[in-house]
Amino acid sequence: MDAIEGANDHYASEITCTAAVAWGPGQPFSLQQIRVQPPQKLEVRIKILFTSICHTDLSAWLGQNESQRVYPRILGHEASGVVESVGEGVEDITEGDHVLTIFNGECGECTYCKLKTTNLCAKFRVDPLQSVMRNDGKTRFLTQDGKPIYHFLNTSTFSEYTVVDSACVVKINPKAPLNTMTLLSCCLSTGIGSVINTANIHQGSTVAVFGLGAVGLAAILGAKTRGASTIIGIDINNDKRSKGQTLGMTNFINPSDLKTSVHEKIRDMTEGGVDFSFECAGNLDLLREAFLSTHDVCQYICVYLCTY
Ligand SMILES: NC(=O)c1ccc[n+]([C@@H]2O[C@H](COP(=O)([O-])OP(=O)(O)OC[C@H]3O[C@@H](n4cnc5c(N)ncnc54)[C@H](O)[C@@H]3O)[C@@H](O)[C@H]2O)c1
Ligand SMILES: [Zn+2]
Ligand SMILES: [Zn+2]
Repeated sequence: MDAIEGANDHYASEITCTAAVAWGPGQPFSLQQIRVQPPQKLEVRIKILFTSICHTDLSAWLGQNESQRVYPRILGHEASGVVESVGEGVEDITEGDHVLTIFNGECGECTYCKLKTTNLCAKFRVDPLQSVMRNDGKTRFLTQDGKPIYHFLNTSTFSEYTVVDSACVVKINPKAPLNTMTLLSCCLSTGIGSVINTANIHQGSTVAVFGLGAVGLAAILGAKTRGASTIIGIDINNDKRSKGQTLGMTNFINPSDLKTSVHEKIRDMTEGGVDFSFECAGNLDLLREAFLSTHDVCQYICVYLCTY
C-alpha cells in the first residue's frame, strides 16, 4: 500500500471500505469495496458515521440533468463523522474531531468569502460539474482494480470513508448527537437560512412555504423563530400537515383539494397575498405559484428553488 506524509509528521495509508456506488441513472446502488486514497494538501479524510438523503441526491441518482450524469459516482452530501486523517497544511482540524461535511465550502479568503452578504465561495461553492478534487484533478476513490470513482458536491458521503477539501468541513461540539447533526449539513441550513439570512423576514410577516420536505419544514421552523404571524404550508401529501403544524405552520393547503389555483386561494386567505413565499420542491410550476402568491406591493419576494 502507498503511504504519504500527512500533517503532524504521521503517515496516512490507503483504506479499503464499503461504499454505495451509483453506476448509471436510476440503477440500484452497488454496495461494494472501494479504495480510498489518503488526504492530500489541505484535504481531510473522514470516517462517516451518519448520512441522510436529500432530494438532490435523488435527482443526481436519476441523472435528471446532464451535469449529474457522471458515473461511477459516490453520492450523498449530508453527513457527520469523525476525522480519520488530515493532509499537509491542515491546521484547524485534527484526527478525532467531530465534523459535518459542507457541500458549499468556504476558503475564507476570496472576495465572496469576505463579503458579509454571501458565502458563495469562488473556489468551493457548490458545483454539480465538479467531480474530481481541485488539488490535482484526480479522484480519491478507486475501484478495486484502480479505476476512478467520481466525487459529488464536494462531499460524497455514501461511503464509510470520504476525502474532502478542508474548506468543506466544519468542526462541531463533540457532545452534539451525530445522528441528527447530519441535517445541518444541508436541509436545515438551507431552509432556515433562506428565511432568516436571505429573505430576512420580520416579526408578523406572512409566509407561504411550497413543498414540506426537509427544506420546507426547516423554512417553517425559521419563519416561526422569526415570529411570522401566518405560515401557510402547501404540499400534495396530507401527511405533511401534522409535521408542519408541529413546527409552527398555521394553515395547510393540499392543491389537490382546491377548485382554484393555489395562489388564488392564498390571496383570498391573506387579503391579496403573503409577504414572503418560499419554493422548496424544485418544481417550476410551483415557482410560478409561489411568485403569484405574494401581494402586489411586496418589496421582498424570496423564492427559493433548487439551483443545481
Ligand atoms: N439549493 C440548495 O441549497 C438546496 C438544498 C437542499 C435541497 N435542495 C432542493 O430543494 C428541493 C427540496 O428538497 P427536499 O430534500 O426537502 O425534498 P423532499 O423530497 O424531502 O420534499 C419535497 C416535498 O415537496 C412536495 N411536493 C412535490 N411536488 C409538489 C407539488 N407539485 N405541490 C406541492 N408539494 C409538492 C413533496 O410531497 C415533498 O413533501 C429539491 O429540489 C432539492 O434538490 C436545494
Ligand atoms: Zn441537500
Ligand atoms: Zn472563498
